[in-house]
Amino acid sequence: MNDRFLRACRLEPVDATPVWFMRQAGRYMPEYRALRARYSLLDICANPELAVAVTLQPVDVINVDAAILFSDLLVPFAPMGLDFDFVKGEGPSVQNPIRSPADVDRLRTFEPRQALGHVLETIRILHRELADRVPLIGFGGAPFTMAAYAIEGGPSANYARTKAFMYSEPAAWHRLCGRFAATIAEYLRAQIEAGVQAVQIFDSWAGSLGRADYQEFALPHTSSIVSALKDVGVPVIHFGVGTAAILCDIAGTGADVIGLDWREPIDEAWARIGQDRAIQGNLDPTSLLGPRDRMFAAADDILRRAAGRRGHIFNLGHGVLPDTPLEQVQALADHVHGFRL
Ligand code: CP3
Repeated sequence: MNDRFLRACRLEPVDATPVWFMRQAGRYMPEYRALRARYSLLDICANPELAVAVTLQPVDVINVDAAILFSDLLVPFAPMGLDFDFVKGEGPSVQNPIRSPADVDRLRTFEPRQALGHVLETIRILHRELADRVPLIGFGGAPFTMAAYAIEGGPSANYARTKAFMYSEPAAWHRLCGRFAATIAEYLRAQIEAGVQAVQIFDSWAGSLGRADYQEFALPHTSSIVSALKDVGVPVIHFGVGTAAILCDIAGTGADVIGLDWREPIDEAWARIGQDRAIQGNLDPTSLLGPRDRMFAAADDILRRAAGRRGHIFNLGHGVLPDTPLEQVQALADHVHGFRL
């Protein structure tokens, strides 16, 4: 087993910088598009055989040091009673979004080992298939980002509804986030039992919050997920975008690895959060759309600033964009592995 990724999560020395890509399985891959022509995104997530195949597509053709379970952040919505689908070209759409405290109280609790058994089955198969290859990362949404989707009902430019709810109904907001925290913590524990070797908590939209609001409305709930996972001994990665202003607060959640977007140089971010944490990031996903030498120069700048410190996991600051040429992703992974200071 290639364990560079797990070693970096644990701040141990590595033979080369580990690299994987958020959304490494997706529309930029011809193999993925071929499957999507026949099945919807939710069909793929619900069918272990298809989800295993998609998870393995990038592992087979790109030299990545980790696989990430193919599923979606919103999969736990359905067993909670939030009906949703993916609308072509627009993203997720929730039919019965949360708009009142009474809506919070109608959410159902569920046992992930039953309601999401198909996801756990996908993980068990992947654990066997990947045994001699690379570790498998599981994931779940942070309470703020899950609540934002549940309230907005889909993507949003400014999260106005979410923030209005948060400010006007703070008790119901904390009940909602408490519910997501308990649900996602249990779901991640079930993923770990089934065989994932690291978990990533996606707080994709936390960067929309000012620092005081992050501390009051988001941080306590994300921290409770991290605490609930401490005894299982699997690395926890925190991911967010636009989080420079709240990065130290995010480190306060106790996550082992802190995700960093492209807006702040990695050495400066690392100095602020402390060398006792690993960092994952921080190449701008659009740099893969430019000329190759410019992409390599941007990657080299990150690697030079990381300066061979323990705990650097190379990744993009957000997911691979659909227009990215596959050859750029392949070349980047090889380039990172070949880099020497
Ligand atoms: O990284 C991976 O390879 C694993 C798979 C994965 C998906 N979604 C599959 C997917 C992961 C880790 C996610 C997490 C997820 N889902 C997040 C957090 C990550 C982030 O980008 O910040 C969010 C916000 C979602 C919700 C979601 N799912 C949105 C907003 C969209 C539409 C946007 C888009 O890119 O079309 C999705 C759809 C989705 N989930 C796709 C994939 C591969 C799009 C592909 C398709 O339609 O076939």
